[in-house]
Amino acid sequence: MEIIRIPRILQDTCFKQRMHGRSIGFVPTMGALHEGHLSLIKRAASENDITVVSIFVNPMQFGPSEDLASYPRDVENDILKIRELKADILFLPDNSLMYAEGFSTSIQVDGLSERLCGHFRPGHFRGVATVVAKLLNLTSPTRAYFGQKDFQQTVVIKRMVRDLNIGAEIVVCPTIREADGLAMSSRNRYLAAEERTTAATLYKALSRASQQVVAGEPMTRIREQLHAMLSAEPKITAIDYASVFHPETLQELQETGQLKEVLIAVAVRIGKTRLIDNLIVNR
Ligand code: PAJ
Repeated sequence: MEIIRIPRILQDTCFKQRMHGRSIGFVPTMGALHEGHLSLIKRAASENDITVVSIFVNPMQFGPSEDLASYPRDVENDILKIRELKADILFLPDNSLMYAEGFSTSIQVDGLSERLCGHFRPGHFRGVATVVAKLLNLTSPTRAYFGQKDFQQTVVIKRMVRDLNIGAEIVVCPTIREADGLAMSSRNRYLAAEERTTAATLYKALSRASQQVVAGEPMTRIREQLHAMLSAEPKITAIDYASVFHPETLQELQETGQLKEVLIAVAVRIGKTRLIDNLIVNR
């Protein structure tokens, strides 16, 4: 596996691979890799000639009061894990090379970026869209892989790729969970023992809401019960949102109407840690 730190070298290397007719599968990450990340890398490797992984904790997507400084970093172990999966290229840039002096361009996907998490994390999706656009320009992938865990991120990126004619297929992969249903996340490392137990409630609440959606129960009742289940947990200190949404527009649904698929999504705070999770339900 080749480790590349200089954006220009990554761009030249990937461009040459594409010129030789090879497909590139790209997996962007912020590191502290877990099985969720590794599932994306495995999928990319199985569907492409060349697999490129990036690790970059992108400062632009963190708000001023968020966890940029304390975000888990574990590059040595990450390299071992990626090597084991036989990825071809690991991109590990420095902040100063990604955001050189004078950097002043950003990508804003209007509307979609303001809903759900966007409301509570202003500027977050601008940071995500901008760095992902840069990474897609550097890697010119045939396919880029993202997890359903960050569902809104996939919707924002798909919109950006369509709007800006970026020639990569966006592949969304299933959420990988712990045995008790908790979605794997780098931020789970922050949770103390009791908080970790509480965190399993997110998936329980989502699963119950999903059964209610399938049974055709009224939206107001589903929403109320979701909130009731989450607020019954003393360790859940805030519920940012917990509801049923249109999977493309991300607007909250009052009724499911003719929709074949709906998104049930939650974001809560457990102590200092913010956790998100979602399910797509076929009706
Ligand atoms: P990060 O949180 O490191 O996640 C990298 C990728 O792994 C994302 O596509 C995310 O959805 C996926 N992922 C995380 N947990 C997962 C799980 N339990 N199951 C399946 N996939 C999972 O998301 C980001 O980084 C950044 O915003 C990034 C896209 C790299 C831009 O900076």
